[in-house]
Amino acid sequence: AANMQIAIDGPASAGKSTVAKLVAKKLNYVYCDTGAMYRAVTFAALQRKVALDNDQALKEMLTDFDLKFVPADPEQLVLVNGQDITRQIRSTEVTNQVSLVSAQPSVRQEMTKRQQEIAASGAIVMDGRDIGTTVLPDAEVKIFLIASVHERAVRRYKENVKKGMATDLAVLEQEIKARDYKDSHREISPLTQAQDAVLVDTTSLNIDEVVEKILKIINQHE
Ligand code: C5P
Repeated sequence: AANMQIAIDGPASAGKSTVAKLVAKKLNYVYCDTGAMYRAVTFAALQRKVALDNDQALKEMLTDFDLKFVPADPEQLVLVNGQDITRQIRSTEVTNQVSLVSAQPSVRQEMTKRQQEIAASGAIVMDGRDIGTTVLPDAEVKIFLIASVHERAVRRYKENVKKGMATDLAVLEQEIKARDYKDSHREISPLTQAQDAVLVDTTSLNIDEVVEKILKIINQHE
């Protein structure tokens, strides 16, 4: 089938966005990074001094929250009310607080609605935590991407080194574990593998091997 919905979920730093982007490119589909949406909400709340656990205040904030993804090279831009926050949403501050914001009911409700609108006409690869379970329960292909905590921390560590950032591997492991725990234990649509999702363990695979594996799973569906 053409114009499929492809859902890629999994824990933090499992390589979802890298792989989802490449799969989308191969299929000529749109790629949607739902984690970037929750990160953008978190950054806006910090900037506007809205308490990160105040559901009602966040709900109000989202009535004035024009979020846009703008295609660009090498990375699409994330704009909120016209402000380019592409880089800021990857900060340690946002990363370590996003799980609190993403657990708030009105934030989940509003982002889920926007994600369903983006995916409505298909031909989309969407990555996140609850795409296969909640956002797109009828997606034609669902992948659950995992890797060991150690492997994910090592990948993040290498990325940081490339960016010239010195980080501590043990600290990265702790941060990844803490975020996974919060995302898996929240009340509304926690991180969990959908019943009909295919589990792909990337611990001993490189990016090309993972992309190939997923393209095979997609082809089997057609
Ligand atoms: O994918 P990424 O690590 O950028 O996601 C950032 C955070 O956004 C996650 O840790 C989680 O709290 C939240 N998230 C979510 N549901 C999604 C995608 C991300 O709750 N579908």
